[in-house]
Amino acid sequence: MNLVVFFLVVVGLSPAAEALDNGLALKPTMGWLHWERFMCNTDCDHDPDNCISERLYMQMADVMVKEGWKEAGYEYVCIDDCWPSLQRDTQGRLQADPNRFPGGIKKLADYVHSKGLKLGIYADVGKTTCAGYPGSQGSYEVDAQTFADWDVDLLKFDGCFMDWKLLGEGYINMSKALNKTGKSILYSCEWPLYEWPFHQPNYTAIRETCNHWRNFDDVFDSWNSIKSILDWTALHQDIIVPSAGPGGWNDPDMLVIGNFGLSHDQEESQMALWAIMAAPLLMSNDLRNICPRSKALLLNKHIIEISQDSLGKQGSRTAKTNSFEVWERPLSKGRLAVAVLNKQEIGGPRGFPISGIPGWKICDPQCTVTQILPEYKEMGVQTKQSNIVLSVNPSGTALVTITPIAGDLRRLHKLLWEKLSVRRIYTESL
Ligand code: GLA
Repeated sequence: MNLVVFFLVVVGLSPAAEALDNGLALKPTMGWLHWERFMCNTDCDHDPDNCISERLYMQMADVMVKEGWKEAGYEYVCIDDCWPSLQRDTQGRLQADPNRFPGGIKKLADYVHSKGLKLGIYADVGKTTCAGYPGSQGSYEVDAQTFADWDVDLLKFDGCFMDWKLLGEGYINMSKALNKTGKSILYSCEWPLYEWPFHQPNYTAIRETCNHWRNFDDVFDSWNSIKSILDWTALHQDIIVPSAGPGGWNDPDMLVIGNFGLSHDQEESQMALWAIMAAPLLMSNDLRNICPRSKALLLNKHIIEISQDSLGKQGSRTAKTNSFEVWERPLSKGRLAVAVLNKQEIGGPRGFPISGIPGWKICDPQCTVTQILPEYKEMGVQTKQSNIVLSVNPSGTALVTITPIAGDLRRLHKLLWEKLSVRRIYTESL
């Protein structure tokens, strides 16, 4: 580890709390999850291509391998609600609906694994799932063991139909039950989402328990929904951003790119901002039938690189001015990713002077700038005085990365030492 990286890790740039120690989700999870696009469609007689059945996941897995999704990093094929039978089996175990999953989940997991992918499943901490299927309350150990026996790799654990005062205990007990199986199962929670209406969740405990956690409402296929998620995140960033880091992430819900409700500019905004937020990239769309532009966006390697950056810091909103929002995420090697979102939904493209980015100070004395959205452009060496203007479409986003030019390591060291002494003074005053 070089000195700078050592300082970045030790000197307070790492998350405040310990992550769930299962070695998983060291980078934000990437994959596909059925809910937003396919919901609780169980009508396989009339709609065999879109109903929740083993076929759907097998077909998605096939496409993910054949069409470059897996290669780009999308790894988990995830089942959401409505997969089980309405009754547990005679031994009290969950079982898949026999008509829609004739092979059972173990066979499906084997199939998905044979493609080099991983399988996710869904359950609920309470009495029933949100759609009314059997919940896990009172059966955490049995259910964890069942998922392990089936060789499942991820559990999305919902929070419907549960006394909110028991949520924490339930999520923690399921986390322990999963660990006890000895199999590595990524644990995706909705604990804080269900607790927020009552009080501020304990993010230290959540980070120790889960690999990612939903904080806010379900995403819909609309720009209003995306905006509401961004607004909520910005409003609560001081509370939630420090808890994100390797092993545990805030989850603003699925990517809906490739569906019906977003314009291409809005799709670019979702992709850019989800990367800035270090969010899990779980697509909910029909990969068998997706327009080439949406596909290229989801596969954009520069954006995925930001999402998966090894520093593992979540970004936040750093400025709001003239109907623009600036969001910044610190990246490894002292770099910065910046998204400039144009929130004015009238008129045409508007210009945003790049020197208006709060983090532009890393361009003193010099930096290089690469624009990733709306199109890839190397903008070369810039200085503090540069007067580039980014053009941003209504409800679209300009995404750039900024790399400071070495030579000013002295300033970086000074900055780190300042941070170190602030921390020391803080610790000593405790
Ligand atoms: C909740 C969750 C969604 C989805 C549905 C399934 O609303 O937040 O993501 O899992 O339940 O019923």
